[in-house]
Amino acid sequence: MAESTADRRLRLGVVGLGAAARAMVPVLSKHPGIVLSAAAEIDPEIRERFRKDFDAKVYERGEELIDAADVEAVYIATPSPTHVALADRAIAAGKHVLVEKPMALSLSDADALIENADRHHVCLMEDEQNSFDPPVRKAVEVIAAGALGRPRMIHALHYGGWLYSPRMPEELKPGPEWGGGVLMRQGPHQLNIVRTLGGGNVRKVRGSVGIWDESRPVVGMYSAWLEFDNGTVATAVYSGYDRFQSADLNLGIQAEDDREYARSRKALRSPGAAEREAVHRREVRYGGSMSRGDRESTRPTTFGWLSSGVIVVSCEGGDIRITPTGLVVYGEETRDRIELPLDETGRDEIVRQFYAAAIGGEPPEHDARWSRATLAVCLAIQRSAAEGAEVILD
Ligand SMILES: NC(=O)c1ccc[n+]([C@@H]2O[C@H](COP(=O)([O-])OP(=O)(O)OC[C@H]3O[C@@H](n4cnc5c(N)ncnc54)[C@H](O)[C@@H]3O)[C@@H](O)[C@H]2O)c1
Repeated sequence: MAESTADRRLRLGVVGLGAAARAMVPVLSKHPGIVLSAAAEIDPEIRERFRKDFDAKVYERGEELIDAADVEAVYIATPSPTHVALADRAIAAGKHVLVEKPMALSLSDADALIENADRHHVCLMEDEQNSFDPPVRKAVEVIAAGALGRPRMIHALHYGGWLYSPRMPEELKPGPEWGGGVLMRQGPHQLNIVRTLGGGNVRKVRGSVGIWDESRPVVGMYSAWLEFDNGTVATAVYSGYDRFQSADLNLGIQAEDDREYARSRKALRSPGAAEREAVHRREVRYGGSMSRGDRESTRPTTFGWLSSGVIVVSCEGGDIRITPTGLVVYGEETRDRIELPLDETGRDEIVRQFYAAAIGGEPPEHDARWSRATLAVCLAIQRSAAEGAEVILD
């Protein structure tokens, strides 16, 4: 009997077993159609953890894994500046590619990757999962139902400690080629969500970026105003400077009172900080002993990233607010709180769509062209900041 698409196993290799892979590997491994057959990781101890956990082949370099004949698809979770070369090589070898956000750091690189993937008839998809989290999907459903009218204004704000959670020295090198700070690392999440809610096509961008801490000289904040082709306007604000935490607006001021203020920043000023940071950075990788962020343990179970920020969509006839566990719909005379099951997150949806695209050729909702458009918004914020002027996108 012929094997049906649903029965087909996809032999997938993970390239880079860092913090991103740590979150993604459990989701990939529970998908019934995916076999985690290999991993590549420079760090031998982390590589060995994976080999033991999955009885998988392991390689030191991503390039070796990509060249292996028995790997059909790769999940690339190495530092951002390495994505394009590794993805390009995998595509040329005929492998489907799920690559961490940001897929590329320039539009020309993104275009070349897309063209390459088209030519080799493989799926190229970015792993930006928060725009697939159930509250965002539910908000899209509520908007599509039409009772609130169309979205007119979106606000997204996020204040957290990205800059002072453990970072590698490379992540703190100035210049976009090293990864670009919060704009290129967190912008893809926030701007994908805003685009998902606002209709997708951003036309005008005015933005500012800030580098306020000379000891960590990468973009630590951005503030942007966007206008969509349908007239909807949005603001997207992000600070990684670890002062005010917007999670506290969601979780109650209690969270603020319970936490030692500025713990991460104080720790970075004490003797031996660089060594401690390097150790901590390694321990948030695959199989490591440390969780990211000092608030994780005191938090209730929530949709992680969404619980740390505020997102409000104002439609003609009502507002929608994303909450850590669902959303609230504010109508003319009613206010409905919708709680959603927490057993799945956007990562499950990404993995489902990647498998369906790789095995069955089903186009993913956020394909590589969608991710390219989000990158275009990130870069437009940067350009607008440099030029002090509005940027019009094609
Ligand atoms: N989607 C998400 O929620 C999410 C979360 C964190 C990071 N990310 C993204 O994932 C990427 C990695 O970030 P991270 O925080 O996991 O970094 P990380 O430094 O923790 O992990 C990267 C790993 O890749 C390994 N590596 C580097 N080059 C390699 C190569 N050529 N072959 C094999 N292994 C190699 C490193 O040794 C390291 O263990 C970034 O692009 C980041 O933007 C996404």
